[in-house]
Formats: sequence, C-alpha cells, structure tokens
Amino acid sequence: MGSLSKLPWKISRLYCHSHLPLVAGYWKGSISKEKYKKGRLSTCTHIRSIGTSVPVSRSQVIPNSKSPETPLLKQLKARIKLSGPLTVYDYMKEVLINPVAGYYAAGQDMFGSQGDYITSPEICQMFGELVGVWVYSEWYKLGSPKPLQLVELGPGRGTLMQDILRVLQQFGEAGSDLSVHFVEVSEELSCKQEEKLCGVVQSNKDDYEKELYFKKSTTTGGSPVFWYRHLGSVPRSFSVFLANEFFDVLPIHKICKTEDGWREVLIDIDEGDGPHHLRYVLSRAETPATKVFIQPEETRDEIEVSPDAAVLCEELASRIEEDGGIALIMDYGHDGKDSSTFRAFKNHALHDPLCEPGTADLTADVDFAHLKGQIQERVITYGPVTQSSFLTNMGIEFRLANLMKHCHLDEQKSLISGFKMLTDPLKMGTRFKFLAFFPAAVKDFLKKHPPAGFYRYED
Ligand SMILES: C[S@@+](CC[C@H](N)C(=O)[O-])C[C@H]1O[C@@H](n2cnc3c(N)ncnc32)[C@H](O)[C@@H]1O
Repeated sequence: MGSLSKLPWKISRLYCHSHLPLVAGYWKGSISKEKYKKGRLSTCTHIRSIGTSVPVSRSQVIPNSKSPETPLLKQLKARIKLSGPLTVYDYMKEVLINPVAGYYAAGQDMFGSQGDYITSPEICQMFGELVGVWVYSEWYKLGSPKPLQLVELGPGRGTLMQDILRVLQQFGEAGSDLSVHFVEVSEELSCKQEEKLCGVVQSNKDDYEKELYFKKSTTTGGSPVFWYRHLGSVPRSFSVFLANEFFDVLPIHKICKTEDGWREVLIDIDEGDGPHHLRYVLSRAETPATKVFIQPEETRDEIEVSPDAAVLCEELASRIEEDGGIALIMDYGHDGKDSSTFRAFKNHALHDPLCEPGTADLTADVDFAHLKGQIQERVITYGPVTQSSFLTNMGIEFRLANLMKHCHLDEQKSLISGFKMLTDPLKMGTRFKFLAFFPAAVKDFLKKHPPAGFYRYED
C-alpha cells in the first residue's frame, strides 16, 4: 500500500467566470470605461484578499501602480511591440512552455500545499489504484496483448503511474513486457518522475542525443521508462494512453461574437492605468481562427477552441485504430456548451491570467463534445462520465472500506477526506470527467462487455 499521508487539498483548478465578457462588452461599447475598470478592480481585490496575508487599505492603493514585471513579461512585450497583439493561444503557449521562463519549464514544484494546485492522484492513492484496475481489466479483456506500453501525457510528479504500476504488479504484470512512456515538457518534473518510479535520478541526457527520447531509466519493478517531448516520438505499438489534467493546459483561441461579426480576443500592452502591463483587446477584423473554428450552427456568443487538443485526439485515435490500444482522458470539461473558462491559478487561488505571466498556471475547460466529434468515425468512445460516477462504478467505496480496516485514525481521516474530495459533486466529483476510446474493431465485443467505470455492474 502506498503512503496515506497525502497533502491537504485546498483548491483544485476549478472553474470560475473570467472577466472576458466584461472586456468584450467594453470593446463593443456596451459597457462604459468606468464600469469596466470597476469590474476589473473588484476582481483583483477579490483575488488578492485570498492570495496575500498582508491586507492593503484602500488609501494605500497607489493609482497607476501595476503588477510586477516578470522576465517573461519583458519578452512578451518586446514581441507585441514587434509584431502586434498576441492571440490567447500564443500567450498561453509562451506562458506555460517557454523553455526558459514558462510556468512548466521554470522548474518550480506546482503541486501540493507549497505549490499552486493539487490534482486527483496527489489527493488520494485510491484514484490511481482504481485507474490501475481499469487499465488492467480493459487490457485483459482485449486479450492482454504484449508487450504493453503505458503512455502518460503530462505525468506531473509521476504519482498516477506509480499507483498504476503497483496495481499491475499485484496482478503479476511487471518487468520488461511492460514499458512506461512519459510525454513531458518539464525537465525538472521529469527528474521528480524518475525519482518516484526508479528510486534515483541517474540519466544523463547527453547519452540520448540520437534517440527520440530525451531520457531513459528503469522502474524499481524492472520496466524500462522513457521520456519524450511529443507523442509523435513514442514508438507505435499497442498502448494504453492516459492523460489526467493535461488537455486543459493545451492553448486555446478565444473568439467573441460582436455586431460586426466574429472577432478574436487578443492580448496587447496596457499603457493606460489598468492593473497589469497587458490587457485584452478584440481583433479589428476576422483572424484565421475566427474563419476556421466557427461552425455555422454555433449558438454561443463566445467560444474557446483548442486546436492542439483536437490534433492530439486525432493522433491518439489513429494510433488506436492502426496499432491497437485504449485511451483514458481525465479532465475538467464540458459538453460544448460552456464558453468562458480561461483562468489562472497561483498559491491555490484564482489569479488574473495577465498578472505576472510565467508565475501562475493557465488552464481552460476541455470541450469533450468537440474532441469526441473529431474521432467518432475512427474509434469507439465511452463517456464523458463524471469522476464521481467513474470512481463509484469502479468500487471506490469498497476500496475505501478495505483500506480503512488496515490503517490508523489519522490515516482514516485522510482517506475519508480524499474520498469526499474526489467524489463530492460540490468538489471534484462532477466537474471532472472521464472519456475513453477503444478500437472500432472491438465494437461488437464491447457491446457485450462494456468498459468498467462507464457502467454500474449489478450483482
Ligand atoms: C496540470 S499538470 C498534470 C499533472 C499530472 N497528470 C497529475 O494529474 O498530477 C500538467 C502536466 O503536463 C505537462 N505539460 C504541460 N504542457 C505540456 C506540453 N505541451 N507537452 C508535454 N507536457 C506538458 C506539465 O509539465 C505537467 O507535468
């Protein structure tokens, strides 16, 4: 059994309305400058009151003072001066994965009580264990093809994979018939993953210059583990693909309906008295994104589109179709109806995405309907179902009861609080969803034996 002393949960990266409708209203002229400024300031005061321990009285607020400049902000301003306002897509990409100063590249540990947010595998071991049982059961149903590749996109601290490997080992699956493939952008996190799975950090990336992976090691259970920058570099073979809170960090375009037609939300330098050095503006004319991504049947006034998420889903679907495999995507998201979910997290609190870029995580809810629409022809999809349904269908209550019998009072309290956090509809139970894909070739078989987690099995 893994460690029960997990970190206390404070806030997961849940949804809140960004102030974009207000911005769009201002640019469309339907909201006055005073009302717009009032809205922005009140949002900031709310965030600061959560995030800082030193309250500032109203008389201390210096007009025209702006949030501090980060090294990445200087780069972004230089780029905007040279080539004009950035799309939210370009901004998000730079802020998250700029190799020198991006949030995920900079090397800080963003998880846990000292970080910015916490994810389901970090909350409680039961999450990873039940995903591990799901992986084993679905792979076994498909005839347990070997060798098995476990591919995880954005593995964070490696906790989910560690829990899955422990479960597979209990079912007798370990060693060289099993290999782990991590797609990871952060060098620093790749070391944490290696330490967690292999017990030591030993690899020297210079050895791997000619390879598609940037690092290689061996898990404590004797399975090889490889690290890549892109899914495209992972060998083509039967694989189980996993992604927890990965799709939500992929960059999005934000597009708004105006009286003049669809316009894209852009990010420009704010030389006025706004609280930050950057501000949102609307494109004067249509952009490539407004031309390509708006469907004729669109009814929303504002949309967020992630082309990278759609391309990645296509790639997963084509690998599953051609090489065999299964994918499980776990993330917060909606069914194509939400429109304004772009937000930032810092120190377990909501944060203005334009404030001190590179120091906070940026995220947007996953549009599951859009992703399913991309791949429906090529693979069989199940879900999205809520995290609460998936974990309940997988027997989380039984697992909880079992673990409770074997641990001390403080560990029991921690387990119960983790269970509530993962399954309570007011916490992570409903907003987080699970979507699975299987090869179309097993459609009839799956009708008789539907995937665990997506259905409740009655005795
Ligand atoms: C929100 S964290 C999720 C961590 C982990 N799955 C969990 O549940 O704890 C996002 C992860 O994706 C990685 N990441 C972010 N953008 C990426 C990209 N474009 N390519 C590969 N990895 C990326 C980050 O370094 C991090 O490991």
